[in-house]
This record gives sequence, C-alpha cells and structure tokens, in this order.
Amino acid sequence: MSTTSLTEVPFNRTLVCDNEVRYLAEAVRQGSTCGDGPFTRRATALLRELTGAGHALLTTSCTHALEMSAILLDLRPGDEVIMPSFTFVSTANAYALRGAVPVFVDCRPDTLNIDERLIEAAVTDRTRAVVVVHYAGVACEMDAVRALAARYGLAVIEDNAHGLGGFYRDRPLGSFGSMAAQSFHATKNVQCGEGGALLLQDAGLVARAEIIREKGTDRSRFFRGQVAKYQWVDIGSSYLPSDVLAAMLTAQLESFDQIQARRHAAWQAYHEGLSEWAADNGVAQPVVPDDRQHPAHLYYLLLPGLHHRQAFIAHLAEAGVQATFHYQPLHNAPAGLRHGRTAPGGCPVTENVADRLVRLPLFAGLGDADVARVIEAARGYRAGR
Ligand SMILES: Cc1ncc(COP(=O)(O)O)c(C=O)c1O
Repeated sequence: MSTTSLTEVPFNRTLVCDNEVRYLAEAVRQGSTCGDGPFTRRATALLRELTGAGHALLTTSCTHALEMSAILLDLRPGDEVIMPSFTFVSTANAYALRGAVPVFVDCRPDTLNIDERLIEAAVTDRTRAVVVVHYAGVACEMDAVRALAARYGLAVIEDNAHGLGGFYRDRPLGSFGSMAAQSFHATKNVQCGEGGALLLQDAGLVARAEIIREKGTDRSRFFRGQVAKYQWVDIGSSYLPSDVLAAMLTAQLESFDQIQARRHAAWQAYHEGLSEWAADNGVAQPVVPDDRQHPAHLYYLLLPGLHHRQAFIAHLAEAGVQATFHYQPLHNAPAGLRHGRTAPGGCPVTENVADRLVRLPLFAGLGDADVARVIEAARGYRAGR
C-alpha cells in the first residue's frame, strides 16, 4: 500500500491495496459475473468476522440495505420510524418509500448522535422502529436505546454506514440491531465504489431477506437445490451486487487492518495537531466517550458559526486542501417536511451543528506530509472567540 504526496490534498481518494486489480481480473475471467459468486461468499465471510453478524447479505448500497430493512419490518402507511435529523437522506428515504413517517429527533451536542434522552417523547402508538446512526463511527448510547426499544416493543435498526470497525463497550457496531446496514461507497473505509450489506442478527429474517434481495423470488433457494424452480413469492427488488464488485470488496476487506492503521494515524495527528488551535479559536473537536472505539471514519471540526465555517473551507481551498461539510438537517428539508414529523422540542442542536461542521480530508492513502499540510493550513485560520 502506498501513500501519496499530492499538489492538492483531495477530500477523498480511492486507495488500491494489494489485491484489488488481481481479484477484479479473476472475477471477470471466472466465467460468470452475476451476484452471489465466489467473491461474494469470500467478502461476506470477512464481513461477518469483522462485525460478528449472524448473517450478512451484500447489497448494491447501504441505501438498498435500509430499503430491505423497511420491507422486512412490514411497515404500513402511517407507521412511524424514529431517527435522527442529522443524517444522510437514505436513512429517512428507505422508510418513507414504504409510506412510513420518519420522526426526526435532535442529536447530542457531544457525539452528534441521536439524543437517546429525547426518543421516548417521540414514541406514539404508531411507532414501529428506532433507527440509529453511529455518526463518524462513534456509537450511539446503545444500552439506553435498546432498553427503551424493548420497553415499547420497537425494532432497533443500525444505519452503520460509518461504523465498520467501531465498538460500543467492546461489542462491534452492526451487532446491536435486529438489522444493520453497511455502506461500501467510495468514501467509506472499505469500499467497492458503490456497495453495501444488510447484517441480520435475527435468523428468522434471513429467508425473507434473501427473497427480497432477489426481486421477490426464491432464486437463492433454487440455486441451493432446495426448490425445483424459482418463482415470484414476495415483493422485492434487485439488491444483489455483481461478483465483480464483491471482488474489489474482498481485497479491501482483506486489507482492513492496513487501511485502519493509516486512517487512525491521520485521525490522531489531526486531533493532537489541532487541539491547541481549536481551544484558542472556539472550535470543537470530535468527542469519543471512553466506552467506545471509533473506526477513524471521518474527522470533523465545529467552527464557531456558519460564516466561519464557510470562510474556513475557503481558507483551506486557498491552501490546496479540499474540505467539505454535511449533513443538511432532514426535519426541515423539503421532503422531510412533506413526509416526516419532528419530535417535540424540534432539532435546535442539529440546526446548529449542521451550520458549523467541516470535514477534513481523511483516507487511507493520505501521506504524513499531506496530513501535516492540512494541519498547518487549518492552524493558519483565526476564528477568534
Ligand atoms: C449515515 C448514512 N447512511 C446511509 C448512507 C448511504 O450509503 P450508500 O451510498 O452506500 O447508499 C450514507 C452515505 O454516505 C450515510 O452517510
């Protein structure tokens, strides 16, 4: 694995580890490139090892894994699904597509995760599930979320797009919900361009999940010789990825430790190198509570306000450093207003942090010199207090 020294420091860049090109060539030559081939089996086994998941199905994206979870929940129009407002659109879209109502809860000011203390007030007799997002791979307060869900008979789903390799009280993220959705999009720690997986802890969901992923047919059972012909047995869609993508993913998963070591080195260098500057300039750094391990998925800073956030991004761009921001809150987005509902008390923390957040470049191919350059450029910005 080689790191790069670039004239500009991009926000993200695909890192090619040891075997991607070889496995891609093998996948193309193996005679069949459709889904559920040999590389899909290899990648699935590696993913189960990493997450401790009872069952895993590769999908074409995290978005699609979330959509599968919504179908598996048998949501009816008007059912409610509690989730943070501070997340990517797919978290809400997957359930809105089934006619369910996303109910948006504010985030905690420290981890930016759903504020577990606000969930109970959002529960109604239509609530069916709570979807948590482990922002930046720092776990939500899962003990509290699971206790509340058990009390009200709600399913817990993890949108674990950021969390591969993260832990909560020594247990891997992705293993807390009855279902968890992974992303292997190009910006994720382990990636195949576009890809994802649905992790299932509940063995009772596996047979139906296979059918939903195969266009509503029992084709998986047919290929295992369990039925003589396959037919349309349920609703579903085309959620299984080509074995070519699984080949890329297999190589990335095999290099997980290498990738993580590089990402953690860059994350830690940012955290230490910017701490004094952050304190002097009223900038907040990420908070990782002691009982969690994060997977160095992203490094963010909270500037004092929107004006400084925009000026800081422009300042970094001048220095050849590409930084960016996210998420736009969902509760007051046009589709959020149309399809969702906001929990009592609104989402003031979400609105505040969404204006202040900046993400620094973080990818496994980022060299030490690039990290030093980003730190130096950031330190050159004066926000004052
Ligand atoms: C929290 C979260 N959920 C879901 C997704 C969607 O992932 P994908 O692009 O694999 O569909 C993203 C994408 O970045 C995300 O950040």
